[in-house]
Amino acid sequence: MSLKQHIDLEKLPQHIAVIMDGNGRWAKQKGMNRIFGHTEGVSSVRETVEACAELGVKHLTMYAFSTENWNRPMDEVSALMKLLLKTIRLEIKTLNKNDIRLRTIGNIDALPESTLKELKHAIDATAGNKRMDLILALNYSGKSELTRALKNIATAIEQKTVTVEDINEAMIDSHLYTAGIPDPELMIRSSGEKRLSNFLLWQLAYSEFYFTETLWPDFNKEELYKAILSYQNRERRFGMTSEQLK
Ligand code: IPE
Ligand code: IPE
Ligand code: MG
Repeated sequence: MSLKQHIDLEKLPQHIAVIMDGNGRWAKQKGMNRIFGHTEGVSSVRETVEACAELGVKHLTMYAFSTENWNRPMDEVSALMKLLLKTIRLEIKTLNKNDIRLRTIGNIDALPESTLKELKHAIDATAGNKRMDLILALNYSGKSELTRALKNIATAIEQKTVTVEDINEAMIDSHLYTAGIPDPELMIRSSGEKRLSNFLLWQLAYSEFYFTETLWPDFNKEELYKAILSYQNRERRFGMTSEQLK
């Protein structure tokens, strides 16, 4: 029986962020090369996107490629870029059919030209969709995002369009890639690693974290439901006492 029926739709996270990890180890366990793990991981992306859209989650952010991932062997990086290109090309139709808008966070201009072109096409082609935002973190890291925001704010001060006194949390928010998107209430990481790996450093300040040993290619709808149920069983106190919340 599916865990889906136990989910309280009134208490659904509006934004879920996912660190998709464990593709390489999954492949290795099967005696295959790492790239096979990435290819198989695509079906887990599809399941997660579908499950979130069906439930009514409004924003789903998936960490697909970090700024640090450029340091991997060249053949793996290039396979990942090709896989991204191919997957986006294949999925545009489904995204449109399901009313899902594709967006990105990160410095996508540094991606290979062919991948960037396909990506921009998909972003344009899905721009009018309203049911859910699928946000791919590509060439993304939290520190590079904050550095970029600081530079932009400093430039605005230099140009005297704002003053130091104008700086507040809302202003910083508005200079992030995620401007206008609510912070994730729930962050999921697969593969048993318990770290952020430079993901959404600012936006995850008060998120609930869910870690699962499941390797990403084995992640599926039921795994997502488990994470949401765990989230729904927690008390989010935001610095207050339990009694205050009652
Ligand atoms: C996550 O799986 C995919 C990316 C980072 C692109 P990994 O490739 O990191 O798999 P492991 O962690 O080595 O098993
Ligand atoms: C984080 O996974 C990045 C993505 C999932 C895209 P990594 O596998 O790159 O992270 P580390 O190296 O284990 O911290
Ligand atoms: Mg990894």
